[in-house]
Amino acid sequence: MLILGIETSCDDTCLALVQDGKKVLAEVRTSQEDAHAAYGGVVPELAARMHADAWPSAFGRLLDSLNWEIEDLKEKIDAIAVTQGPGLQTSLLTGTTLANMLGLLLHKPVIPVHHILGHVYSVLLGRDQSDFAFPALCLTLSGGHTQLFLVKDWQKVELLSKTRDDACGEAYDKVARALGLGYPGGPVVSRLADEGDAKKYAFPRPLEREKTLDFSFSGLKAAVIRLIDQKGLENLTEQDKKDICAGFQASVLSICTRRVGLAYDLHPDIANLWLVGGVSANVQLKKVLKRWADEHALSFFHPKERKHSTDNAAMIATAGYLKYKRGYAPKNDSLSPNPRLKI
Ligand code: KG4
Ligand code: ZN
Repeated sequence: MLILGIETSCDDTCLALVQDGKKVLAEVRTSQEDAHAAYGGVVPELAARMHADAWPSAFGRLLDSLNWEIEDLKEKIDAIAVTQGPGLQTSLLTGTTLANMLGLLLHKPVIPVHHILGHVYSVLLGRDQSDFAFPALCLTLSGGHTQLFLVKDWQKVELLSKTRDDACGEAYDKVARALGLGYPGGPVVSRLADEGDAKKYAFPRPLEREKTLDFSFSGLKAAVIRLIDQKGLENLTEQDKKDICAGFQASVLSICTRRVGLAYDLHPDIANLWLVGGVSANVQLKKVLKRWADEHALSFFHPKERKHSTDNAAMIATAGYLKYKRGYAPKNDSLSPNPRLKI
């Protein structure tokens, strides 16, 4: 089954063609990162305008990469999967409008997909369903969300916990902004952290002593920003910045492994550990969770390719495929964005 995936929930205009939820035939991503970097975060009006400008050429590049015409698309795809939410209303609108239009034009069903379920099932890309065992514990860390799910199978997920305040990626982005490092913060903060001394600054690990699966990052973020303000950004050396990033990241790693450990205590039948979402691109986080999984004799999965950790359309096609397979009957009405869509 071949599905065209469309993702425009935040600041990336993404299209992909995915076979049976796992094999990517083609994919394109137009990033707006540079445009938003000057503002230290995503500006919704700018994102909406850029999506509307970007999709025609992204669509052209997708077809060109396979030497296809629009007739080939009509002949070969079975359905269109699109992110319906959550996300920025005006950004989502480009994706849903494009999906509705192509659905009518090509006479294909349109499957609405929850963005976070796209991240959860992104582990399937490049792998086989038989590689996995259930239930799996899935740590989902992105710029807007932080959740722990119990994945019962390819169709069912149960929310175990979420953040009480900031998302994990959001904390990275805010620390980066305070250090004058631009947006998005994750890649640059993690790169500096690799060269810093994690013991130089001891930052808080919120909820450390509580037996809760909930996450909290705002106290950590606030402590880092307070230190930067006290010292004065202009007085910080490059090494100071690296040490601050290393200290911050050490707390993030500790918060994440502790929550995973507590979840395992409560659900000892867990067979796999999954790490997904933008922050799953973080090499150190993958390393500590792999070590934890090895110690507990569990298999550990994260998106096979780094580009499938951050927002992409291949994961939307995968989640759409799984939804279709479980008997979802596409509606005839056109699809509207739902920025607060529930799982
Ligand atoms: O999943 P994603 O692409 O978009 C959302 O759905 O939010 O996640 C983006 C987030 C950003 O906050 C970015 O700073 C973070 O993922 N990120 C990272 C890394 N790469 C991206 N965080 C930590 N380490 C990284 N290497
Ligand atoms: Zn995302």
